[in-house]
Amino acid sequence: MAWLTKNSGTMQIERREEPYLDDALKAKLEAEVIIRYPDRRAAMLPTLHAVQHQVGWLPLQALAEIGAFLGVAPSEVMDTASFYEEYWLEPKGKYVIWLCQSITCELLNRESLMQKLQAKLSIKPGQTTEDGKFTLMNVECLGSCGTAPCALVNETLHEDLTAENLDQILDALE
Ligand code: FES
Repeated sequence: MAWLTKNSGTMQIERREEPYLDDALKAKLEAEVIIRYPDRRAAMLPTLHAVQHQVGWLPLQALAEIGAFLGVAPSEVMDTASFYEEYWLEPKGKYVIWLCQSITCELLNRESLMQKLQAKLSIKPGQTTEDGKFTLMNVECLGSCGTAPCALVNETLHEDLTAENLDQILDALE
């Protein structure tokens, strides 16, 4: 592990005119989320989730807007968002393929499936295809070891994967 340092003090945030945290989302968060917490800062995680759900990922401008909404420094929002793997700080593909890398799937040939995915999509885990269609990820046990090897494609679980049915799954998405 290594600490990466960068000069954030002079970093320019790419901004669009329309806010990510718009009035409708703010009103919904106030009514359904903020009231459930002792203070606004404590609602950081569900607020990040709500914005990510609406936008698809968390641009820097959105993090700054969340900071203003919750009354915390943007750097604190960034610290939180970058700590948890479920928050996306880069745009993700239309389809996110999560290939299980835990023990049962590992024993049942997941590595060859990963090789196939990498070759077919020309990306490595953590990357997105140039056309923005696919993001490839490793994930820990998907809780379906009895039908390993498994992968999630967005919200859909695919079981008993083979090189052949993996091709069919991808072709159906293309
Ligand atoms: S090890 Fe892959 S689903 Fe459990």
